[in-house]
Amino acid sequence: MMGRERLALYPGSFDPFTLGHLNIVERALRLFDAVDIMVTVNSEKSALLSPEVRCNLIRQCTVGMEAVSVTAFQGLVVDYARRRGATALVRGLRQVKDFDTEMQMAFANRRMHGELETVFLGTLPEHSMISSSLVREILRWGGDVKPFVPLQVAVALTCRHEKTT
Ligand code: PNS
Repeated sequence: MMGRERLALYPGSFDPFTLGHLNIVERALRLFDAVDIMVTVNSEKSALLSPEVRCNLIRQCTVGMEAVSVTAFQGLVVDYARRRGATALVRGLRQVKDFDTEMQMAFANRRMHGELETVFLGTLPEHSMISSSLVREILRWGGDVKPFVPLQVAVALTCRHEKTT
């Protein structure tokens, strides 16, 4: 059957991109024709990496995944979704504490764009305790971030940390 390409958006701060994020991308690719990873600038969070560096690292981590694109984005996800004709918005759910804020965001997005489905993917148990803020904290005190992020990100973060200390 010929049909419209099913594009999923995967928005997030990705500061930095973790193994949990990578797994969500891999699984979203099984459900959709293409996945656009949207690196959004969130003013409430103190950024470790610039959006450009985050995008470049994600591109390195997704080399060979033809159906993946990476876009730096500022604004409302629903506006971008309309422009791109996206089918769904993908979010990973780690623990119960994610649920409230994620449902609230999904509700707001549905009110603004009724055709855009939010699809929640439960993270793998081994990724359920990983967060970008945890990685930033470990890095700040010179800890080893390799168990939590793709190798390319670990190398970049470690070099960066060594330069700044
Ligand atoms: O994974 P994060 O860092 O918690 O991601 C939050 C993010 C970037 C998905 C969220 O802040 C977002 O969607 N920002 C863009 C503005 C928007 O569309 N907000 C949702 C409706 S209120």
